Amino acid sequence: MKYLPLHLDFSGRRCVVIGGGALAERRARQLLEAGARVDLVALEAGRELRSLIASRGGDVALRGYMPGDVAAGYALAVAATDDDETNRRVAAEAARNRVPVNVAGEAARGDVIFPATVERAPLTISVASAAASPTLSRLLGARIEALVPAAYGELAKLVGKFRARAKEKIPDVRERAQFWENMLQGAVAENVFSGNAAEAEAQLSRALESPSEHSAGEVYLIGAGPGDPDLLTLRALRLLQQADVVLYDRLVSPEILEKLGGELIHVGKRPADHTVAQPDINQMLSDYARAGKRVARLKGGDPFIFGRGGEEIAHLAGEGIPFQVIPGITAASGCACYAGIPLTHRDHAQSVRFVTGQLRDGGVDLDWPSLVAPMQTLVFYMSLRGLPLICENLQKAGMDASTPAALIEKGTTPRQKVHAGTLGDMGNLTERTEVRAPTIFIVGAVVSLRPELGWFEAAKNTG
Ligand SMILES: C[S@@+](CC[C@H](N)C(=O)[O-])C[C@H]1O[C@@H](n2cnc3c(N)ncnc32)[C@H](O)[C@@H]1O
Repeated sequence: MKYLPLHLDFSGRRCVVIGGGALAERRARQLLEAGARVDLVALEAGRELRSLIASRGGDVALRGYMPGDVAAGYALAVAATDDDETNRRVAAEAARNRVPVNVAGEAARGDVIFPATVERAPLTISVASAAASPTLSRLLGARIEALVPAAYGELAKLVGKFRARAKEKIPDVRERAQFWENMLQGAVAENVFSGNAAEAEAQLSRALESPSEHSAGEVYLIGAGPGDPDLLTLRALRLLQQADVVLYDRLVSPEILEKLGGELIHVGKRPADHTVAQPDINQMLSDYARAGKRVARLKGGDPFIFGRGGEEIAHLAGEGIPFQVIPGITAASGCACYAGIPLTHRDHAQSVRFVTGQLRDGGVDLDWPSLVAPMQTLVFYMSLRGLPLICENLQKAGMDASTPAALIEKGTTPRQKVHAGTLGDMGNLTERTEVRAPTIFIVGAVVSLRPELGWFEAAKNTG
């Protein structure tokens, strides 16, 4: 490691920035933000920056660099002119006077680099690449920026407030570290992230009253989306990574399961084969949470759309177990997007209906006339077995046999297939071709846009 990452307290320290471009200005502002006293040597500088520098006791010299500008005693020099030769002279003077220097564009020539930073004050995350590629550092910083919840700073402040009390209540260093680990990955942190700081503070306070009894158990009811792991939300990913145990359904794709740590338990259900009965799943959720575990209940798509998520959390609510629900991209939305079928479109559909196609007593029990409306898209979930009946009943209720329709198989995954046709010819699809669940059935004029808008399979074939 050539560069040692340190976070230095620059408040009140004198720094000099040589250069008048955008980068020099950014560095000057960064140093000012850190509380430094900045001297600026630049051919020109905006009035606002000049007065900011002056207000902190710094000097601005509106001219080019002159030997003597980097006098001994500066805590840092920044060489950020647009002339490499000048920057080198600045760096040489800094070296002679033992002033640490950062050289813009040629970081390796200096001895200080400015990392990419993600600010969650009082927390700062910095990324640097030992001057190999500032762009790579910046891109990685942007990824971290997206992954770290905005309220992490609030969490850090809360911890700071309780640190002394925790030290007094839990003198053992290891026990204390374990306590903080539980708090920072459990309900306290989640309350802060949801904007419920007062509740988080109360929880932390209660936990510190009897730290040994405290159980951080809670349940996250998470929507996994339709299959592509990239469709998980950032929140879903974060909670899955911190879960001790994950109870997952059959429809959660293998690509998503590969990403998970913790104990994985399959509780999936097939239409006719309930691997684990619903009351048993409910019981497992509350038992694990009572044992102090962070339990992720992972369901395909969105947990509140044909997912029985409501029943599971009603049980938890009844038992007084803390939970939160994380929405997922529902199959209708994910599969339609990946198949190039906009569910609504100004010229073709003003509304969309999500309908269950599940068979009941050998039939699909729906109010068919209400489904036949102009400018409407219908999306049938759980419709593979009932496909012939759905096509037949829609036509009997008055829908034209030529209405475009598509059955999407294993949507959003590398195994996605789209069987497109019309209402009149989709009824016997499974007699003509092999189709594998899960599938979703879309009916409506919007399906006709697919030849023009389909992108996913085309990308797969060329990729
Ligand atoms: C019990 S429902 C669960 C729906 C889920 N909660 C959601 O929001 O997508 C299961 C149905 O979702 C649909 N489905 C889920 N994932 C799918 C996928 N990748 N491709 C096609 N259909 C899918 C199928 O119609 C399947 O029968």
